[in-house]
Amino acid sequence: MKLIFTSLSIFFTITFQTLLADTKQAETGSVGATVSKNLTEELRVGKAKVETLCSACHGLDGVAASGGNSVIIPNLTAQHKDYLIAKLKDYKSNKIDHPQMSIIAQMLTDEEISAVSEWYSRIKIRIFDPNLILGKPSQ
Ligand code: HEC
Repeated sequence: MKLIFTSLSIFFTITFQTLLADTKQAETGSVGATVSKNLTEELRVGKAKVETLCSACHGLDGVAASGGNSVIIPNLTAQHKDYLIAKLKDYKSNKIDHPQMSIIAQMLTDEEISAVSEWYSRIKIRIFDPNLILGKPSQ
């Protein structure tokens, strides 16, 4: 009986926290927002794939997280869609043979490659010139 209560409370805690997190993200308008009514069908498919298959390493927003086992995971955001497609197809065909990316790309259909590339290429960033931030070195 006690076990059932414990399991239930863990279940509700996780569900509640997930709901809270979703609401918070939706308010800040981050890419994790659950309100996706403005997304095209391809973006919806791409986002779902990215969430399950890519975000641990490249982040949902394409800014590399260190969840993978490599410290040299590239950022993908603000990259051209065609470039991302070309790279993913090269990994898929083993033209680029990479222990992680080749396996992952082989899990994607050509439509999914297009969809995840659409997702990452649609995320825009602002560029800051280091000169403007750091200022000119004193003379
Ligand atoms: C386990 C961690 C991991 C996961 C998960 C992962 N990647 Fe990667 N990805 C990497 C690493 C590491 C590289 C750099 C590979 C290299 O050096 O060629 C990379 C490279 C890439 C590149 C090439 C970037 C460039 O500029 O050359 C693309 C595109 C890419 N990943 C897309 C994806 C997509 C889309 C997914 C999900 C379907 C995904 N990756 C999942 C680790 C990961």
